[in-house]
Amino acid sequence: MTATKGLEGIVATTSSISSIIDGVLTYRGIDIDELAEHASFEEVAYLLWYGKLPSQSELNGLRKELDAYASVPAEVIEAIRLYPKDTNTMAALRTAVSSLALYDEAAGDMSAEANLKKAIKLQAQLPTVVAAFSRIREGKEPIAPKSGVSIAHNFLYMLNGEEPDEVAVKALDQALVLHADHELNASTFAARVTVATLSDIYSGVTSAIGALKGPLHGGANEAVMVMLEEIGSLDRVESIIQDKLNNKEKIMGFGHRVYKNGDPRAKHLQKMSRELGKLTGNMELYEMSVKIEDIVTGQKGLKPNVDFYSASVYTTLKIARDLFTPIFAISRLSGWTAHILEQYENNRLIRPRAEYTGPSSARYIPINER
Ligand code: ACO
Repeated sequence: MTATKGLEGIVATTSSISSIIDGVLTYRGIDIDELAEHASFEEVAYLLWYGKLPSQSELNGLRKELDAYASVPAEVIEAIRLYPKDTNTMAALRTAVSSLALYDEAAGDMSAEANLKKAIKLQAQLPTVVAAFSRIREGKEPIAPKSGVSIAHNFLYMLNGEEPDEVAVKALDQALVLHADHELNASTFAARVTVATLSDIYSGVTSAIGALKGPLHGGANEAVMVMLEEIGSLDRVESIIQDKLNNKEKIMGFGHRVYKNGDPRAKHLQKMSRELGKLTGNMELYEMSVKIEDIVTGQKGLKPNVDFYSASVYTTLKIARDLFTPIFAISRLSGWTAHILEQYENNRLIRPRAEYTGPSSARYIPINER
């Protein structure tokens, strides 16, 4: 038995949800470029869960369900008030999602119908939870979700307490589309491993949030912003990035386990970053990002991934740095839950083996002889 470090190149399951073939990402066979141009996040979530694009009435039906489920139990909000105000936002989200299960009578119902309903419910509730935590830590009251608007609109409304402008809603909606699913990424795999024991959907999503939190995965978007803030201005880019490369530090937002010729999502986020920069009259973050890309790609051949330009996009939308990864979670929840439903449909326990590298033929030594 020989281990493959990081399971690189190992095909661990079949899936009909999303594919990465020759550097092209598709959801249910549809190129992400087409979806990014034309689809709303709600259409994409429907596509991931049901395997087809919704008709207008099916989409209206999903929007109504999302509206109906968007409030969270008062007990969950009360518990959030007790979280330390400076706690990590992904830790808060992980805890809150886990606690949602406590107030869902159907949490343990393993029928396909109940699980699909819980997927939609979680999709509706996650933005409410993230916005509530953000407001409570700022000493403000959470704002109840409103009906008849998109998830992107509702999230910005609940976060800021005012109607968002259309450009911000459109940009966030497109970012949600781009992050919705990504084959067997680390957090999706974590979700599938958890539910393959026939544990419930809340446990699967809680595992996924834990995996997404790390800086090698979803946490990279926040880490990119930390780097941009550390650099501070365009004229400092070259020396700081060069120092990092000389010190063999990883440059956050670059490289990918699967894409070696570039992440197809990055160009959309780059375009969005440029357009938002122009619109707000502040191009510095965009220009710093482009300069970093020139240096890192030029010297290391590494291309930006989905997280790199997300940082300047979200900052230009005036979203706090530590909400970037929770926003990633709001979007990826659609993919996680589609994968959880797929795992339940054709389940087998996921239990690989390890190549043993410890001592052999060791003996028990009584404690007084050690
Ligand atoms: N900056 C500098 N060097 C890098 C980077 C980077 N961002 N990424 C990879 N490398 C180098 C490594 O140092 C390594 O070099 P070596 O062979 O000389 O030691 C080589 O490229 C291979 O890198 P690994 O880390 O082994 O590649 P792996 O496939 O395991 O990792 C990963 C992929 C985790 C994404 C990596 O590229 C990385 O750490 N990037 C920065 C974090 C990041 O942006 N994560 C987000 C990924 S996208 C997402 O999850 C949403």
